[in-house]
Amino acid sequence: MGILNKHAILEKNVTLLAVFAFLVVTIGGLVQIVPLFYLENTIEDVEGMRPYTPLELAGKEIYLREGCYNCHSQMIRPMRDEVERYGHYSLAVESKYDHPFQWGSKRTGPDLARLGGRYSDEWHVDHLTDPQSVVPESVMPKYGFLSDRMLDDGVSLASGMIHAEAIGDIMATNAMVGVPYTEEMLESSRADFLAQGDPDSAGYDDLQARYSEGFGSPEINIRNFDGEPGVSEMDALIAYLQMLGTLVDFSTFTPDASR
Ligand code: HEC
Repeated sequence: MGILNKHAILEKNVTLLAVFAFLVVTIGGLVQIVPLFYLENTIEDVEGMRPYTPLELAGKEIYLREGCYNCHSQMIRPMRDEVERYGHYSLAVESKYDHPFQWGSKRTGPDLARLGGRYSDEWHVDHLTDPQSVVPESVMPKYGFLSDRMLDDGVSLASGMIHAEAIGDIMATNAMVGVPYTEEMLESSRADFLAQGDPDSAGYDDLQARYSEGFGSPEINIRNFDGEPGVSEMDALIAYLQMLGTLVDFSTFTPDASR
């Protein structure tokens, strides 16, 4: 019987059994884990993905600060009901530059992964200021105060505010964890931040060149998002909401009827 007999030794000695069980688990674990350290790329790159512009990134920080993720996910699952309601299911690459990612699973409100371009800027201002004025049965809180918090006046730095001066630091932090912000982008962060909220700005072309052309992405939305003078937190948040899910071109995608 050879080796089969010897197994009885292990079964009758609890310490020896523990040592061998540990060895087996260790080897099994290494076989699974070690190859992962040598992977170059875990997600497939797709044309059009780009890092957030400074204004969008500020909007994302505001989204996090206000806890929008407590009621909204940003992850469309590859199931028929989801795809029909929200659009093409989310690709891994689409949250590649999100630190932290906003997938979530709490859907008190709808998924926002493909929100960009679905509503007008005015709709967003009305809805964020007073959700019930647009959707009477909505349980979403009011965020009108964002309009009063200016990001570019160079003075006020209320707690938790994503000031134009601070956005470069936030970008640098993102760069540290792998977001491809170049030196040039970091240096022009403040100018780009202000340029995106002003369609007549001299920085228009630079902003397009740096963030859109440089990555083969759709044009950057450059406009006065909330229609009020100056760049407020409302502008930043809407700039972010309006680009969600718009980077990858799904126009050639036809839903698979068999699903
Ligand atoms: C208490 C939960 C809650 C929180 C927090 C919340 N929302 Fe909502 N949101 C909802 C609900 C419910 C709806 C659906 C009804 C409506 O449109 O108001 C909604 C709808 C929306 C819509 C419209 C989506 C669509 O496709 O029609 C947007 C955009 C949105 N929320 C953005 C935000 C942002 C940005 C924040 C953070 C500043 C936020 N929400 C915070 C509950 C919430």
